[in-house]
Amino acid sequence: MSWTKVLAADQLPTGKREVVKVGDRHILLLNHEGQVYAVARRCPHMNIKMTRGKITEDGAIVCPMHRSSFDLKTGSVKEWTPFPPVVGKMMGMISQEKPLPVFPIKVEDGSIWVDA
Ligand code: FES
Repeated sequence: MSWTKVLAADQLPTGKREVVKVGDRHILLLNHEGQVYAVARRCPHMNIKMTRGKITEDGAIVCPMHRSSFDLKTGSVKEWTPFPPVVGKMMGMISQEKPLPVFPIKVEDGSIWVDA
């Protein structure tokens, strides 16, 4: 792992999202209430893009497909495949919970850096 400059800080104002490529990884950068986060672009459940995932009031990103939610800071699972009702819970029982990979970031010299 090493630090890579990925974006000018002013390209990611509050509420904005961008996908950047670091090595062979696609990373979703998002600015939520002034704090920048870097998470894997795809959900660890079935590899669906998280790019449009809703952000909850308690700081989790929600997968658009089966609505698993992951803490933005740690990537830990807050809820695993709750959707659709009944079927989602059954899917969750047969698939092991996996965290969403998250990456350290820093803002330095007007740029966003990711350690990936
Ligand atoms: S693909 Fe994300 S929760 Fe199923």
